[in-house]
Amino acid sequence: MNNLTFQESDRVLVLGATGFVGGRLIPELLEKNIKLRLLVRNPDKLSHDIRDTAAIEVHQGDLLTRQGLNEALRGIHSAYYLVHSMGGKSIFRNTEFAEKDKEAARNFIAAAGSAGLKRIIYLGGLGEAADRLSEHLRSRTEVAEILSSGKPAATTLRAAIIIGAGGASFEMLRHLVERLPVMVCPRWIDTRIQPIALRDVLSYLIGCLMNPETAGASFDIGGPEIFTYRDMMQQYAEARGLARRIIIGVPFLTPTLSAYWVDLVTPVPSGIAHPLIEGMINEVICRDNRIDDLVRIEKTHFREAVRMAFSEENSGPGIHERGIK
Ligand SMILES: NC(=O)c1ccc[n+]([C@@H]2O[C@H](COP(=O)([O-])OP(=O)(O)OC[C@H]3O[C@@H](n4cnc5c(N)ncnc54)[C@H](OP(=O)(O)O)[C@@H]3O)[C@@H](O)[C@H]2O)c1
Repeated sequence: MNNLTFQESDRVLVLGATGFVGGRLIPELLEKNIKLRLLVRNPDKLSHDIRDTAAIEVHQGDLLTRQGLNEALRGIHSAYYLVHSMGGKSIFRNTEFAEKDKEAARNFIAAAGSAGLKRIIYLGGLGEAADRLSEHLRSRTEVAEILSSGKPAATTLRAAIIIGAGGASFEMLRHLVERLPVMVCPRWIDTRIQPIALRDVLSYLIGCLMNPETAGASFDIGGPEIFTYRDMMQQYAEARGLARRIIIGVPFLTPTLSAYWVDLVTPVPSGIAHPLIEGMINEVICRDNRIDDLVRIEKTHFREAVRMAFSEENSGPGIHERGIK
C-alpha cells in the first residue's frame, strides 16, 4: 500500500456532480459505501435524495471564481474531475468553453496542490494531437495536461461518445436518427469512432480509484466495436427497431450549418452541437488497451448500451428534469 491507495475512511470529492457523467457516478460510489463531497455551482440542481444522503457533503462553489474550492478540498485524498463548460442554451457559436475549461483546471490544480490532494481522476476525450484536433477535442487534451502538471497524481481516461441518456452527443445521435429517415450529413460521416457504454465508463472511473497503479497515467477507454459515424447511426436504428436510414454525405455542409440543423431537429442547442460536430473530423478510437490489465470489466456492446440508455431513462428519476447537458 502506498499513499495513492484509496482507504475506506477517505472521502472522495466529485466535481461536475450535476453533469451527465457525474450525476450517474454518484449512486455507483454510494453503492460501494464511499463517502462523498460535491462541489457544485447550484445545489438546487441536485435531487432531494442526493442532498439528504448522510454520506454526502454538498459544498457550493465555482471553479472559475475559486469560491468554495479550498474548503471543498480540505482533507480530501482523491477527486473526480468531470467538469465541462460546453453547456448552455445559446444558439450562437460557443467560443468561450475552451478558455473557461483551462482556467477552471488551472484554478483546481493550484488549490489541489496546496491542499495536499493525492489523486485526480479526469474523464477527457479521445483524439490524437497530431491529427489537428477540433477545438473541443483539443480542449479536452489541454485540460488533461493542466491536471497532470500539478502535485496530485492525475489519471486521465480518454473516451469517445458515451452511450447514455442525457449525454449531449448521445442525444444528438438519438434525435437525428429517431426523427430523420433520410439524413444529409457532412462528409466526415465516414470518420471512425469507438463509442462506449455509460456503464463501462462508470466501471473504469471506479476501477481507477480502487487501483493505485492507474495513478499518474493516461488510458484510452472504448467499447468493443469501432464504427464509422454512418455505421453507428445505422446500428442505432437497428437497435431501436427503426427502418434503415438513408445517409448522404455532402462536401458543402459546414459544421455551422449542420449545428443550426441539429438545433432545429434535436433538443441539443447549436452552441453545444457546433463543437461536437466539428469533432467529427477527427478519428476517435483507442490507440492502446493498457487499461484492460488494470481494470477488468466486461465491455458492453453498442446495441446493449442503447437499450440500457432507454431502460434507464424510463425508470430513473431526474433525467428528464435535468435535460441536455
Ligand atoms: N458526454 C460524453 O459523451 C462524453 C464523452 C467523452 C468524454 N466526456 C468527458 O466527460 C466529462 C464530463 O462530461 P459530461 O458530459 O458529464 O459534461 P456535462 O454534462 O456538461 O457536465 C459538466 C459539469 O461541469 C460542471 N461545471 C462547469 N463549469 C463549472 C465551474 N466553473 N465550476 C464547477 N462546476 C462546473 C457543470 O455544472 P453546472 O451544472 O453548474 O453547469 C456540470 O456539473 C468531460 O470532461 C467530457 O469531456 C464526455
